[in-house]
Amino acid sequence: MQTLQTTSLRVEGNQFWILDQQALPQQKNWLPADSVEALVGHIHALRVRGAPLIGLSASLLLALLAERGASREALAAALETLRAARPTAVNLMNNLDRMRAALAQPDYVPALVTEALRLVEEDRALCDRIAEAGAALVPPGSRLLTHCNTGGLATAGRGTALGVIAHAFETGKVANVWVDETRPLLQGGRLTAWELGEWGVPYRLITDSMAASLMAQGEVDAVWVGADRIAANGDVANKIGTYSLAVLAHYHRIPFYVAAPQTTLDPACPNGAAIPIEQRAATEITGVAGSFGTVQWAPEQAAVYNPAFDVTPAELISAWVLDSGVVTPEQVRDGVFAAR
Ligand code: MRU
Repeated sequence: MQTLQTTSLRVEGNQFWILDQQALPQQKNWLPADSVEALVGHIHALRVRGAPLIGLSASLLLALLAERGASREALAAALETLRAARPTAVNLMNNLDRMRAALAQPDYVPALVTEALRLVEEDRALCDRIAEAGAALVPPGSRLLTHCNTGGLATAGRGTALGVIAHAFETGKVANVWVDETRPLLQGGRLTAWELGEWGVPYRLITDSMAASLMAQGEVDAVWVGADRIAANGDVANKIGTYSLAVLAHYHRIPFYVAAPQTTLDPACPNGAAIPIEQRAATEITGVAGSFGTVQWAPEQAAVYNPAFDVTPAELISAWVLDSGVVTPEQVRDGVFAAR
């Protein structure tokens, strides 16, 4: 396969590497992701993360395995294993459905390679179109709040919500970005803060619990988040804590925008209640693990509830910014997502 490089994926000399998003920003470790077992391990551990990136990484690996001579049967089994790697982000399933169609072609090796590269190129273009559409909703001097990481690390392009923010900044409209640290795995504190710093966008890092008082003080003009799955009725699954922000934004009459590519839409899913929510390990809440080892602060046997995502009901969302443009609540009520 041709050499390919995104912020967090690299294909070179028929080898596949991922940038370890758990080690960032302290360490920039590129790790091999050459087998299904390795990539699924990276996805479970969130070394590869973000809805679009999970789907793209799985598709690229399948294409590489095909080029290395894996049989059609082995590739079909690999596809199903990868499809089950994480349950909430529908981009994974949507991308792999397209890879399955390629696998059904008589000449499936070039078909898989072409399709995986096409998915990457499409994602880049989707990010640009989302940024363009979203930045038009940002007034000059805006102080924006974002949650989790929706940037170049999570996509093949510049990102979704963070791509909007970056583009709005370039056009002189962003005064400050409030970055939610995003407990428990700190995608905001580690990844979004790093990306905004690299891009020269002014930001201030806050703990998740600070958003309410900032809004009450009039310091937030809009909230911008990404999505892992958008149901037919417009309900959105995204990183845990997104729903709290939507409730807060509603109370304080602040616009709440969701930015996502079409690969995040799930017309077959009627509403948020039908979206499978990933439950994660207790150790993510009872303490912290890193290159320094593990620190546990909770009692040894602490009972824990740790959903990775929550659902924001459509009625709390001011607009959905897709690559096709801005979708209004009226259009969603008229069934625009169900029809796709
Ligand atoms: O658990 P994560 O880090 O994969 O969760 C990521 C999010 O919730 C993002 O907001 C979403 O995937 C959109 S990324 C463009």
